[in-house]
Amino acid sequence: MFGYVGGKNKQANWISNQFQSNLTSYAECFGGAMWVYWKTNILDQKYNPNFKEAHYNDIDPLNYCTFKSLKDIEFLQFATEYCKDWFINDIERVNRYRLELIELKDNSEYNWEEVLKFLYVIPHLYNNDLNVINCEIKVYGSDTNPVNKRFLNSKTLRQLSNPSIRRKLNLLKVHNKDFIDFIDSIDVDLLYVDPPYEGTPIDHYRLGHNIFQKEEHLKLADYLNNYKGRFILSYYHFDYIEDIYPTDKYYYLEKEYSVGTRKAVKKTEVLILNYKPSDSDILKF
Ligand SMILES: C[S@@+](CC[C@H](N)C(=O)[O-])C[C@H]1O[C@@H](n2cnc3c(N)ncnc32)[C@H](O)[C@@H]1O
Repeated sequence: MFGYVGGKNKQANWISNQFQSNLTSYAECFGGAMWVYWKTNILDQKYNPNFKEAHYNDIDPLNYCTFKSLKDIEFLQFATEYCKDWFINDIERVNRYRLELIELKDNSEYNWEEVLKFLYVIPHLYNNDLNVINCEIKVYGSDTNPVNKRFLNSKTLRQLSNPSIRRKLNLLKVHNKDFIDFIDSIDVDLLYVDPPYEGTPIDHYRLGHNIFQKEEHLKLADYLNNYKGRFILSYYHFDYIEDIYPTDKYYYLEKEYSVGTRKAVKKTEVLILNYKPSDSDILKF
């Protein structure tokens, strides 16, 4: 999929190792780029032929339209032609498209051109050096990525056409709701919850839009504390985490990861489960 602020690319296998076997349905209420779903093979036909239903939800309409577009195989055809002259790290293009996206009025019907501009801009924002508040975009991955690498190159397109990914896309229902409305509307074996982290109040390309502040974190905790199904919640540590998710009620797991493009920056990822994970992983109960 695509580089995304807060995306769980590196943590996906660790997280999906906590999935119970024989899941028949799965949902992500803060979908983003939905890395855990794409990377796990636990839901593949080969391992789990009974898996039949997945739900993606994100309040951001551009994320929603991106996933709706990806479900349509003709979108890939269109993208190949439309983006043939696009190269990564073209900062003039990044800034132009980003400003165009900011100008667009929120709606749920972005067209394929707009979705592709979003897909182009988003990975460039996945950068520790980026100062989103001042709207300043810098080159990403300059040490490792050749400047003339094509956006949506044949490798990316091949991955998106891969039968396992197409199956996952076919099983996926896509939603554009606030998280509570979404969770209330589904009934699944497992819910993966990956909210914007505490202390990261702004979204990444529209400056200040879509704020997720302390009261939203409290609202989420309140809701999950009464949730009847199984869930896995991702966070970094913050000062009141154990007050709102008591350690005698939930299982806590932890793992250290390097973040962003600078491998030296390490963060400890926390998973909170309301069901028993495999014994070796348990940290607190
Ligand atoms: C940390 S990101 C999820 C990353 C995702 N797990 C991945 O691997 O790419 C959080 C997402 O929550 C979405 N979001 C923020 N507030 C929301 C809300 N109230 N309801 C639903 N989604 C929301 C944001 O648009 C963002 O895409």
